Amino acid sequence: MTAATNSRREFSRIVAQSLAAAFAAPHVPPLLDAAQRKPTPAGAVRLNFNENPYGPSPKARAALADCSPIANRYPDEAYGQVIAALAQKYNVRSENILLGCGSTEILRAVDDAFLDPSKNVVAAAPTFEAVLDYARVLHSNAVPIPLTVDHRHDLPKMAAACTSKTGVAYVCNPNNPTGTIVTRDELAAFVQAVPPSALIVVDEAYYDFADDPRYSSAVEFIPAHPNVIVARTFSKIYGMAGMRLGYAIGAKEPIARLREQLVQDNGNAAVLQAALVSLADNDHVASCRAQLNGTRQWLCAELTKDSRPFIPAQANFVMLDMGTDVKPVIEQFRARNIIVGRRFAAMPNFLRVTIGTQPETESFLAALREIAPVRSARAAA
Ligand SMILES: Cc1ncc(COP(=O)(O)O)c(C=O)c1O
Repeated sequence: MTAATNSRREFSRIVAQSLAAAFAAPHVPPLLDAAQRKPTPAGAVRLNFNENPYGPSPKARAALADCSPIANRYPDEAYGQVIAALAQKYNVRSENILLGCGSTEILRAVDDAFLDPSKNVVAAAPTFEAVLDYARVLHSNAVPIPLTVDHRHDLPKMAAACTSKTGVAYVCNPNNPTGTIVTRDELAAFVQAVPPSALIVVDEAYYDFADDPRYSSAVEFIPAHPNVIVARTFSKIYGMAGMRLGYAIGAKEPIARLREQLVQDNGNAAVLQAALVSLADNDHVASCRAQLNGTRQWLCAELTKDSRPFIPAQANFVMLDMGTDVKPVIEQFRARNIIVGRRFAAMPNFLRVTIGTQPETESFLAALREIAPVRSARAAA
């Protein structure tokens, strides 16, 4: 038998196995699919999606209000301008930037480009699920690595789990839902240890809320480690979650591979104009950061006064240990028109609350004190 026959047989075997796996696997829709979510009641205090309650910069609002002159044209000009502005911000070239319909489209493109049924994705458990959801659609295996006892990514264990079969290693920093960070030095050791055949995706959706001096962006690792890409979004600090714009920074080759997966003309002209002026409005970013981090600090101080256990957070949300399954607790908040959560299967007793405006966060705390009075919280702890 010739080598060619052998390799044809091997190829047919792999194809047959992949097809069998594809058809045998139950269809599970992506967890974060908007069509599957419960509608939010009108007038509710929305503390469930880690949105920025202060919204876009006033300059972005003006750009959105005044978008009719550009609505009939394809968005090429603004698309290029946003890429150029981001390239300048990160001191890279345009070829190193990729725009997505939210950073979710970036994460989907990552999976589409780097995973298949023979590849796996290594990620913390729990973490933001999009990369894992789309991996499931592609019939790729997930390799979940539990968080450390202090609810942080266990990077040494994640690195050890990365093999030649690993297509993607996903690090969410700060992590959603725990709000914890990995330090610059921990990340430096991780990028060194992971095989260069795996794409390391560092999701920095909450970058702007982290104020721990040991934290820094993974962008610095890209020149020496071209298998690193960083995902960012306009949904959080820029207050534009409904506008759907995110981006990746990376070396030319992986960015080009991801670009092949995107919908052509995936930018919206009005949103791109709003993003362009937002990038130049440092005052709005600073003001959102100061207000939201100030409210986070206030909330954490109140939780401490109540002796309620919580995970110290570096993002615009906090995880509280309720000492009991949070499913009914979330419903009790909903009955008071305050939307919190969701429940995370790996941390069923923890309630995630987004930092809202100061009055919104005060209303959350007042409801919490009614739903779980302090004494019972102490007993549960
Ligand atoms: C860690 C993380 N990454 C990415 C996203 C997706 O954000 P978007 O698609 O709005 O940019 C979210 C949304 O909450 C998130 O928490």
